[in-house]
Amino acid sequence: MLFNKRKAKKPPVIDGRLRHIAFIMDGNGRWATERGMPREYGHSHGAETFRKIGRYCASIGLQCMTVYAFSTENWKRPEAEVSAIMGLLKKYLLEAIGQMERDRVKMAFFGDLSPLTPELRELCERTREISRHYDGCQVNICLNYGGRDEMVRAMRRYASEVANGRENNIDEAEVSDYLFSAGIPDPDLMIRPGGELRLSNFLLWQNAYTEFYFTDTLWPDMDEAELDRAIAAYQGRKRRVGGI
Ligand code: IPE
Ligand code: IPE
Ligand code: MG
Repeated sequence: MLFNKRKAKKPPVIDGRLRHIAFIMDGNGRWATERGMPREYGHSHGAETFRKIGRYCASIGLQCMTVYAFSTENWKRPEAEVSAIMGLLKKYLLEAIGQMERDRVKMAFFGDLSPLTPELRELCERTREISRHYDGCQVNICLNYGGRDEMVRAMRRYASEVANGRENNIDEAEVSDYLFSAGIPDPDLMIRPGGELRLSNFLLWQNAYTEFYFTDTLWPDMDEAELDRAIAAYQGRKRRVGGI
């Protein structure tokens, strides 16, 4: 019946006020446990969710998204889980490389990639290189990333440059230039699914004035409707940034 037809939900309108969304992809393990499955099963579904949410962010015209995939603290997990996550990452990158020409997303990696296997490092490098000239949505994957580690690295690099004769005139803009996120606008909105109300060492510098959206939804259940709710919540906020 024509009159009962449900109206298709309109995608959110993205304007200059929302350029960058960061996600802490949390809750994969609990999602699997709830289903009586091993945690790896949750990570595998989480990877699918990343693909889905990534496509959606690009389709609504978002300029930039950053996802927390593996923290500097996640090495504490059992070896089997860590290698399952790395295996999924390899699978993801191989598929992403195959689809890059079509998607035209620009991929970057935040974090110290040196402890990864040479094969994974090479895949990250290839992905970054292929997408260097693409102008679509910028997707940053945080891998072996920690906000504190990022700042320590920046300080070390700056200090060594000063020791080598560089003028010491550090300011906020300069600090930003020494981070993995150099040149990328700070996140406007940070979304953490999985029910935890903390940052877990994510983008400590960049999140200084970011709006936060926390939800109990576990990452593998995150969908377009939940993202629309987060964006609507963001659009209802007043960002005073210290003003009135
Ligand atoms: C997030 O999900 C994925 C990574 C940290 C790699 P978790 O694995 O932390 O899932 P929970 O929080 O234990 O449910
Ligand atoms: C944060 O989740 C890291 C990633 C999602 C990659 P964790 O599950 O590691 O965070 P905590 O341990 O609950 O703080
Ligand atoms: Mg977790």
